[in-house]
Amino acid sequence: MKQVSNPLPYVFTRPASASFTGKGLLGYSFYPLCQDADVYYIESEKGHDTFMVSKKITRTYYVLSGSGHFTIDDIRYDVGPGMLVEVPPKVEYTYSGKMTLIGFARPRWFSGNDTHTRSNPDVVSRDAACELEQGSWLTRLVRLRVCGRSPVGMYLQYGQRLWNRIPPRLAALVPIRLYGRFLHGLARIENVRGQAFSTFFLRNRPELELIQRLLEAVSNGETLRVAVLGCSTGAEAYSVAWRIRSARPDLKLIMSAVDISKDAVEVAKQGVYSLTTPQLTNTRIFDRMTATEVEELFDTDAQSALIKPWISEGIRWSVDDVGEPEVIEALGPQDMVVANNFLCHMSDSEAERCLRNIARLVRPGGYLFASGIDLEVRTKVAHDLGWQPVVELLEEIHEGDGCLRPFWPCHYAGLEPLNKKRRDWRIRYACVFQVVPTEKVLVQSENELAVASRG
Ligand SMILES: C[S@@+](CC[C@H](N)C(=O)[O-])C[C@H]1O[C@@H](n2cnc3c(N)ncnc32)[C@H](O)[C@@H]1O
Repeated sequence: MKQVSNPLPYVFTRPASASFTGKGLLGYSFYPLCQDADVYYIESEKGHDTFMVSKKITRTYYVLSGSGHFTIDDIRYDVGPGMLVEVPPKVEYTYSGKMTLIGFARPRWFSGNDTHTRSNPDVVSRDAACELEQGSWLTRLVRLRVCGRSPVGMYLQYGQRLWNRIPPRLAALVPIRLYGRFLHGLARIENVRGQAFSTFFLRNRPELELIQRLLEAVSNGETLRVAVLGCSTGAEAYSVAWRIRSARPDLKLIMSAVDISKDAVEVAKQGVYSLTTPQLTNTRIFDRMTATEVEELFDTDAQSALIKPWISEGIRWSVDDVGEPEVIEALGPQDMVVANNFLCHMSDSEAERCLRNIARLVRPGGYLFASGIDLEVRTKVAHDLGWQPVVELLEEIHEGDGCLRPFWPCHYAGLEPLNKKRRDWRIRYACVFQVVPTEKVLVQSENELAVASRG
C-alpha cells in the first residue's frame, strides 16, 4: 500500500467547535470540501428555531439517529434514522425533534440566501412565538400568510431586487427615500429576527481610527478600561486591543469582552482561528485584513492562526447577557464601551432596554460605540439621555462596515443611507457618542423645559 504522509484533503474530521448554533441545535461545518456544496453535521436538541425559505440552495438532510418531523410547505413529515429529506429552494420549511442529521447544501451557503419567515413553536416557546405573531392590526396584516406564504415577504423580496437597480442619484430623491423608509418599516415588522455570530477582524476601520484619535486625550501611563459587548468569537475585541496597544503601548489596557454565548466566548478565549473552517460564524473573518496585518496580529501555520500574546494578554472574557443589570456591577465603569451589531437583532423594546442598560457602563465623559442597531431606537435613547454625537469620522464610520448596506431597505437590519438634509443627521447617523454626566443632562432638560414653557 502507498505510504500516506498527509491524509488531507480526502479525509475530514468534525471540527472541535460548532460552526453555527441556534436556540435548539448545534451545527458543524465540513468546509470547504468542494466549490459548490456544504456538508454539515447537525445535533438538533429541539429543532430549527425558525421556518425558512431558501433562495437558491437545495438542502438535503439524512437522519442518522433520533426522531422528529420536518414541516415542508405546511405539511408535516415524521422522520427517523435512515430517512433522507430534500427541500428545494423557494419552499418554506423547518424541522423539529431530537435528532442527529447530516445536511448537504448545494450550492454553498451565501449571505442573503435564507429568509426566516416565522418562529418554530416547537423550539421557541409558544408564548414567545405568539408574542411575536401578535401585535397591532397592522402587524398582523403585514405578517398575514396565504397558503403558508407571506404576501408582504414576497413584495419585499421583489422590492429589494428593484431597489438594487435604482441609480444612486434617483435613490437620493425625496419620494424614493420615503418609499425606502416605508419598505424598511414593513421589513421590520415582517422579518423574523435572529442573532448571528457574524464578525470580522478590522470590521470597521474608521471606527478603529477614531478609537486611536480619542486616545490622544489620555495621559501617558494611564489605565484605560474598554468593554467589548456581544464580542462573538473575539475578532472585534482583538482588533480593538491591537489598535490600542500598537498606538499606545504606554497605557494599561483593561479590556472586558462579553457574549451571551458560551460557545462563542470559548472560541474567543482560545484566540486560535482555523484558516480553513469558520468557527460558529459563517463569515470569513480574515477577509478584511491584508496579508501584512495577518502577520502582525497572528502566529500562523498552514491550518490556523493564533492571536499574538501581546494583543490577547489580560483580556477578561465572560459569558453574560448585557441586557441584565448585573453586568454593570460585574464590569464596572468603562472609558469606552463597544456594542456593535447585536442590538439590531432584538425587538425595538428589547434593544432600547438593552442599550439603556449598556449606557450605564460608560463612565461620565466616556464613549459609547453602538452600530448595527435600529436608528430610531438609538436616536431616541441618545436624545433622552443627552448623549453627544461624535462628529469626527461620523460619515466614514457609518459607511465603514459594508455588511448591512446591501440589505437596505427590505431587511430589518439594512443600513439607511446617510442623509445630511435631515436636521437631526448628526444624532441619527452617529455610531459613537460621548456620554454626558447626568447633572449636565438635567440642566439641559431643564433648559429645554424653560424654553418650552416660554414658547
Ligand atoms: C453579529 S455578532 C457581532 C459581533 C461583533 N460585535 C461584531 O460587530 O463583529 C452578535 C453577537 O452578539 C451576541 N449577543 C446577542 N445578544 C447578546 C446579549 N444580550 N448579551 C451579550 N451578547 C449578546 C451574540 O451571541 C453574537 O455573538
